Amino acid sequence: MTRRIGVLISGRGSNLQAIVDAVRERRLDAEIAVVISNRADAAGLDRARDAGIETLCISHRDFSVRHDFDRALVEALRARDVAIVCLAGFMRLVGSAMLEAFPNAILNIHPSLLPAFPGVDAQRQALEYGVKVTGVTVHLVTPELDGGPIILQRSVPVLDDDTVASLSARILVEEHRAYPDAIRAVLEGQWRLEGRRFVGRS
Ligand code: GRF
Repeated sequence: MTRRIGVLISGRGSNLQAIVDAVRERRLDAEIAVVISNRADAAGLDRARDAGIETLCISHRDFSVRHDFDRALVEALRARDVAIVCLAGFMRLVGSAMLEAFPNAILNIHPSLLPAFPGVDAQRQALEYGVKVTGVTVHLVTPELDGGPIILQRSVPVLDDDTVASLSARILVEEHRAYPDAIRAVLEGQWRLEGRRFVGRS
């Protein structure tokens, strides 16, 4: 059975595009039911429209309290019967309403090998710290920022002449491979959590 997924974005949407392509090329047995952005000007909304996917803009600015924003997201996602929610460059913290509505079913992609370099500017953090290897992490979302169980990680070398831009580009190539793989692993369901460990297939 093809599972429905919701994708939440705030910007460029290149990871969204990677998921769209994986679905289209049948590397991922899923249907993107809706793409939701908290920003009307997110370029990723155009990518979704071009792919014939329903789009919604739910702006956090339209809600005086964060919980109400979260509830609006839950309502939209539930109405579309999504099994999992993929954060793809979604620049808002996910709150309790979302976490309770989709337990262990919200995924996020982060451009470092967590727990190193959480938060914003992960590529700059890695470069400035001087690590020789960084990478990408896809994880389940919990209340802790970038702190949930790790579904998969892929490593990327840091080169001596790297800039934030060149390192980010190298990581992004790996992100686009990793996210569809992680979604497939979660949807296949042959996994369990042992404490914080995602074990089984990824
Ligand atoms: C990616 O680097 C992702 O890892 C991070 O935000 C960026 C989003 O890029 N969470 P895009 O919008 O998918 O192109």
